[in-house]
Amino acid sequence: MNIVVLNIASSRYKDKDQVAEFLHLVESNAFTVQFVALAVVRTPSSATYIQSGTVAFLKEVCAQCKPQYIVCSLALQARYQRNLERALCVNFIDRTELLLSLFEKRATSRAGQLQVELARLSYMQTKLVRGWTHLERQRGGIGLRGGPGETQIEVDRRILRDNIHKTKQKLATVVKTRQLNRQKRQHDRVFTMALVGYTNAGKSSLFNQLTHAETWANDQLFATLDPLVRSFSVPNTHQKSLLIDTVGFMRDLPEALVTAFRSTLEEILYCDLIVHVIDCSDQAMQEKITSVEQTLEVIGAADLPRIHVFNKQDLNPAFNCRDQQNACVISSLDKSSLQSLYQLIAAKMPA
Ligand code: GTP
Repeated sequence: MNIVVLNIASSRYKDKDQVAEFLHLVESNAFTVQFVALAVVRTPSSATYIQSGTVAFLKEVCAQCKPQYIVCSLALQARYQRNLERALCVNFIDRTELLLSLFEKRATSRAGQLQVELARLSYMQTKLVRGWTHLERQRGGIGLRGGPGETQIEVDRRILRDNIHKTKQKLATVVKTRQLNRQKRQHDRVFTMALVGYTNAGKSSLFNQLTHAETWANDQLFATLDPLVRSFSVPNTHQKSLLIDTVGFMRDLPEALVTAFRSTLEEILYCDLIVHVIDCSDQAMQEKITSVEQTLEVIGAADLPRIHVFNKQDLNPAFNCRDQQNACVISSLDKSSLQSLYQLIAAKMPA
């Protein structure tokens, strides 16, 4: 699908890394980028968020490229989106919508699909509340649910509320099975570790290497959505342990997604050890560490025992973490580099 990317930034020079990340997100969605337009917005325009000059420029770009969509790097409020679509005669996809459609493509399990569905319904609800007030028409009469006096927007809200309720009920059944599995693990006192990290840090590659599994590791964002659990044994220890691969984090994840994926993320809360995988070749490493830590705090996992695993050493051989406790440097593509990680984990296991 051909698209034009509208990157909205607060300054021409800042946020370069965020642009690259957003383009990666767009490509992970299998879109073909025809043009990347930059809109510097310090004070949002009340109608279209971006300034009228940029709207005129985008009009020219669209006339030339004829894109199917304009994909915007911000989560746009519904009224801005509606006004921009009217002005440019092209449909918009905002950042939240882009993430939702990527999650929809990646969700394979029943739980994953229900969670994305829930996130989409909540997202639609915010669009209704914030922007679709033009639907405030009265409807009702004989044979219509809601009765006279119920406006179109109230009907839409009610339908969404009903759907959200039904999806939550379906999800609760799936989550129950997961809880039972977890209770069994706790009962059997199995030492459990969860791999967490920013998307594309290399969690699945490490998971494959440690558990000899063959899960999908790919240079695409959010390759893993559902928590995967495999048994794992640290060389020279004779303790049964389990490793969980979890969904990757990202800065400014929409609230609807974090809330919907709460049950998946909760797997982290019941672990004995969090293994935070970090891409040490990434220029924005520090920001991404902070972003992961913030998400851990949101889900209530900030105080759990944690180790930091700096991955992709082969791409940054000069990197070391000697000044840090509970940290090691590895390359998950090279099995021989994992010794320091094994030692770190063994030290955290109960005697
Ligand atoms: P999400 O599923 O998006 O959360 O990603 P992830 O953290 O599971 O990352 P994944 O294991 O899918 O790896 C992302 C990309 O990094 C893949 O192309 C891997 O081959 C690559 N990769 C992982 N570890 C290393 C490493 O140690 N060195 C190098 N050079 N590449 C690596």
